[in-house]
Amino acid sequence: MSFIKSIAVLIIILFVVAIAGIYSGFYNVAATVPHTGITEWVLETTLERSVEVRAKKIEVPDINNEATISKGARSYGEMCASCHGEPGNSPSYIAEGLYPKPPNFGKNFRNPNPAEIFWITKNGIKDTGMPAFGPTHEDEDLWEVVAFMNKLPDMSEVEYKKLKTEARSMGSGDGHGHDHGDGDHSEKEDDNHHNEEKKKVDKQDEDVHIHKDGKEHVH
Ligand code: HEC
Repeated sequence: MSFIKSIAVLIIILFVVAIAGIYSGFYNVAATVPHTGITEWVLETTLERSVEVRAKKIEVPDINNEATISKGARSYGEMCASCHGEPGNSPSYIAEGLYPKPPNFGKNFRNPNPAEIFWITKNGIKDTGMPAFGPTHEDEDLWEVVAFMNKLPDMSEVEYKKLKTEARSMGSGDGHGHDHGDGDHSEKEDDNHHNEEKKKVDKQDEDVHIHKDGKEHVH
């Protein structure tokens, strides 16, 4: 009995010390101070396992056709390159200051499989700079980005630019109907596009398919 009592007292002491530690302000939350080795291991392993388990149930569609890959190249340039970099361009200074740093998807990338990339892109990663694109984009659009990323590690700058130009000339077809602001329209238009996106998300709940609205594809 006294053994159980000592364990209980120990747990209470640890709990009080932990709460006192939180309130003391001792922990430094600065993005410039890296985690200790053990914290890093806990966070990284939790992330990898969490994604692996959830991505297992995802069925990967055909992501090997050229049209899908080029549309993905264009979307990647608009939505992801500022943080993750792109062939021929480094990430922005914002990405430089993030902790954890957004990985560069070049040659040495650990390469999660397509289902994992899709899950991460759709859902984002808590407490990091990685946003969830699911609330604002259709699955179909996100698979295009995954299709492109599948080819990205070996891609040259010339190939990348060619794919993006192809996507631009493809024009209408899937009626995605919004742009991500690469400078060829005004800010006001951008706001309208985002309202449209919001409506799209709301409609999804009612199971109405309005994706093929015939608008020009400007992704
Ligand atoms: C605002 C910056 C930002 C943007 C924009 C962004 N990401 Fe990320 N992304 C991050 C950060 C930060 C991480 C690292 C998270 C970590 O290590 O815990 C990350 C991680 C990832 C990972 C996991 C990499 C790995 O090693 O497992 C994938 C995949 C990814 N991002 C895909 C994308 C895609 C696709 C887009 C565009 C549709 C995108 N990201 C846009 C910041 C960003």
